[in-house]
Amino acid sequence: MWFPYLLLAIAYLLGSLPTGYLVGRWQGIDIRLLGSGSTGATNVWRNVGRVAGITVFVVDFAKGAIAILMMQSAEFLQSLVFNAFVLEQTRSPIPNLSLFVIGAGMLALIGHSRPVWLGFKGGKSVATGVGILFVLNWTVAIAALGVWLGIMAIWRIVSLSSISAAMIAPILMWTLQSNIAYSIFVTVGCMFVIWLHRSNIERLLNGTEFSFKSDQSNST
Ligand code: G3P
Repeated sequence: MWFPYLLLAIAYLLGSLPTGYLVGRWQGIDIRLLGSGSTGATNVWRNVGRVAGITVFVVDFAKGAIAILMMQSAEFLQSLVFNAFVLEQTRSPIPNLSLFVIGAGMLALIGHSRPVWLGFKGGKSVATGVGILFVLNWTVAIAALGVWLGIMAIWRIVSLSSISAAMIAPILMWTLQSNIAYSIFVTVGCMFVIWLHRSNIERLLNGTEFSFKSDQSNST
C-alpha cells in the first residue's frame, strides 16, 4: 500500500526538477535574477533564447505528462518492483487510483513552482500543467492550446495567454470530460496556476507586463 505514496513523492521530485534554472546556469546566468524571475520557459526564452526556452518547455511539459502516466501505470510498476525485490504478492490493485493520479498531478505542479532545490521559488507551472492536461484529456489540452495561441497572436503577452487558457480549461473539462475527479483537479490546478500569475496580473493591470511585441526583453 506504500507504493503509490512513493510515486507521489517521485511526482513532486519530478516536478521540482529546475529545468529553467539549470539551462540558465549552463549559459552562465541565474534566471531568477532576470525578467519576471520565474524559472519557466517564457522567462528563459526571453533572457537566454528561443532554443533554450523551447527546451525548457519540452522538459517541463514532460515532467507533468510523466507524473500522470507514472501514476496511471502504478499497478504495473508496483508488480515490476515487487517481483524484482520479491517483496509481497506479485499484483495487488491500488484502491482509489484516480485520486492518486490527481495527487501526482498536483504534486508535479507544486514541485515545479515550489522546488525544494531552489528555496521553493520556481516557475508558474504552465508547461507542466499542459503536459498533465494532455495525458488527462488531449482534446481539452488542444482546445486550451488554441485559446493560448489565439490570445498570443493578438496581444503577444504570454502571461495573458496562459491565464486565459487556464480559465477556459476547467470549463472545457466540465463539458467534455466524464471523470468528475479529473475535472475537479483541473479546476483546482488552473486556479493554482492563475494564482501563481498574481505578479503578472498586477503588471497587466498597470500596463507594464512583459511582451513579445517588438523587443523581447522590454515590457509594454
Ligand atoms: O508560462 C508562464 C507565463 O505565463 C508567464 O511567464 O515569465 O512572463 O512571468 P513570465
